[in-house]
Amino acid sequence: MVAGKIVLVTGGGNGIGRALCRLLARDGARVVAADRVSTSAQETVNSLSNPKSHLALELDVSDKSSVETGIKCIIETFKAPPSLVANVAGITRDFPILQMNERAFTDVIDVNLKGTFLVTQAAVKALVEHGGKDGAVVNVSSISSKGNYGQANYSASKAGVEAFTKTAAIEFAKLGVRVNCVMPGFTQTAMVETVPEKVKQKVLMMTPLKRFGQPEELAEVIAFLLSDKSSFMTGAKVKVTGGM
Ligand SMILES: NC(=O)c1ccc[n+]([C@@H]2O[C@H](COP(=O)([O-])OP(=O)(O)OC[C@H]3O[C@@H](n4cnc5c(N)ncnc54)[C@H](O)[C@@H]3O)[C@@H](O)[C@H]2O)c1
Repeated sequence: MVAGKIVLVTGGGNGIGRALCRLLARDGARVVAADRVSTSAQETVNSLSNPKSHLALELDVSDKSSVETGIKCIIETFKAPPSLVANVAGITRDFPILQMNERAFTDVIDVNLKGTFLVTQAAVKALVEHGGKDGAVVNVSSISSKGNYGQANYSASKAGVEAFTKTAAIEFAKLGVRVNCVMPGFTQTAMVETVPEKVKQKVLMMTPLKRFGQPEELAEVIAFLLSDKSSFMTGAKVKVTGGM
């Protein structure tokens, strides 16, 4: 279902993005692991069974020229733009609002929300210019989009990603590009390593499955939304939270 397709995965150097790259490569896709940290992207590609069929890309999703250069590089490498895009890159900078400086707010909005816009816009533009159709974009929001103590910046960015997804789904339907969103709950990656034990126990109490998600479990759902197995889905938000 994704075999032979070119898939751009941002945040492909770690966590959910890396798990997604591995799953897509196993299923025959040509994977572009794009990450701000080039060594992490390269490590991901090196871990795939045929690294030469894939591409590691240093790319900052919050920087328009970096995104445009990245798309050009994909076209040069594969002679076509990606038809599938997973906007997985994301950051947190947690502080209660009264202690949050402007930088912590804008950095999170720039990566999580503006980055999703820049990558989606550049990739879909390139797809259209190359006469491609049957594309799919999957964005990653968060259970925190509902509001979470200390995460005003992150919650707002992820609520924005959900709204952006719905509008993109409406605008791109005529282009044959579906746009959906996954909403992860607490998932065992580097992003949550510094969360205090007390908070983790509280999250577990609110999670009916009584455990945290694994990156591979998120990757499965994102891969489904990228593939034509989900051909009648667009503008959807899928919760992957262990029931939280
Ligand atoms: N882990 C969780 O519990 C959880 C919960 C809800 C949502 N999410 C979301 O899932 C996504 C993946 O998170 P994760 O847990 O795998 O995190 P992670 O920290 O393990 O991986 C994120 C990756 O994104 C990359 N990245 C950061 N800024 C970037 C930029 N400007 N340009 C390109 N790459 C950049 C990082 O280098 C890293 O490799 C994020 O969007 C995150 O907000 C995670």
